[in-house]
Amino acid sequence: MRAEETILPDAYIQDPLAAILAGDRVMKQYRAFKRLRLASSTNELKDSNNQQDSQAALVEGDSKLRGINNVILRTLYFDDGIMMVLGKRPSSVFTAIRASLGSTNCKQVVLLGSGMDSRPWRLHFPPGVTWFEVDRQDVLKAKMDLLRKAGAAFTLNPGSTTQLKGTRFPLQCQEWKGVSLDLQVQGWSAHLLQNGFDPEVPTLWVLEGLLYYLEPDAVPEILKESARISAQGSVMLASIFSREFLEVMKKKGAYQNRNSIASEWKWACPVEPSEYFGGCGWNVLSSPSWTEAAEMYGLKAIIRASTKSMQSSESQQTVASTEHAAEEPVTVEKPKRNVMYITAVVHI
Ligand SMILES: C[S@@+](CC[C@H](N)C(=O)[O-])C[C@H]1O[C@@H](n2cnc3c(N)ncnc32)[C@H](O)[C@@H]1O
Repeated sequence: MRAEETILPDAYIQDPLAAILAGDRVMKQYRAFKRLRLASSTNELKDSNNQQDSQAALVEGDSKLRGINNVILRTLYFDDGIMMVLGKRPSSVFTAIRASLGSTNCKQVVLLGSGMDSRPWRLHFPPGVTWFEVDRQDVLKAKMDLLRKAGAAFTLNPGSTTQLKGTRFPLQCQEWKGVSLDLQVQGWSAHLLQNGFDPEVPTLWVLEGLLYYLEPDAVPEILKESARISAQGSVMLASIFSREFLEVMKKKGAYQNRNSIASEWKWACPVEPSEYFGGCGWNVLSSPSWTEAAEMYGLKAIIRASTKSMQSSESQQTVASTEHAAEEPVTVEKPKRNVMYITAVVHI
């Protein structure tokens, strides 16, 4: 999705490495799926009497009417949130949160479940940022191989703060470190500490597209363990689902499709985020829903969510599959909180 968005003339985000990291096979599958979805949306449009629904169905075909889908909105929101916490001038969406964070400027970032994130090569961070990516060994290795092949640098010029010359994708942070570990094994943070994580330095934790894939018992442990090694002023950005959303997806049959990405979702926030995160050492500052976040950007969220659009490969890349395109689409009927984004500050 990020790759396809990047090539649009009015793209909301830029991720030039996304197509490379997704790989040709996945990109072909996704494009085939999109063609089918567009065709089925157009048919739905003809049949539909509901003007609003029709617009949502059409948006992907016409950039003027284009809404913003959840993955792209999430990327945009997290991009802005990350830059705000690292001390760049905040986008208007984050001005109030920036004010409540006071003088906090994190210089250490940890992505838990980093997957194919490419921010260290596509965002321009302020000087002195150390960036940790945590994922399973096979995922990290596959990613690093792809990045090397694409000409991405993992270091700056040795002993300097300047970029390596002639690099196709220069590193945009001071230091990048990949740490392979299993987050569901308690004590995982020891590996992070061994790899140079500094518990005295305020940290930005990024948990994007991760928590709902984890065992429900593991989630609070991960939140508590990250809080335990976080200095005062640390911040967490996390994407979460409400129970309500998960139940809607269940009801709509998402779970019957074993290849659907939704069949892999295990956890949803059982209570209000402030209560849940509060019990794990984090104080929630803001928790807009997906539609609220879109509105904050003056955009329209595409709220038609189809299980056929969600599939994952071994390495958990979100892909589309033509196999699922023939299935009935699932329309999420405006649950109050369909997808949530939360911003939290460590509570000490
Ligand atoms: C859906 S991907 C999201 C990737 C990325 N954050 C993004 O938003 O594009 C979830 C990632 O979490 C990783 N992951 C899932 N369970 C994990 C675990 N127990 N330990 C470490 N990483 C895990 C997966 O390997 C995968 O790369």
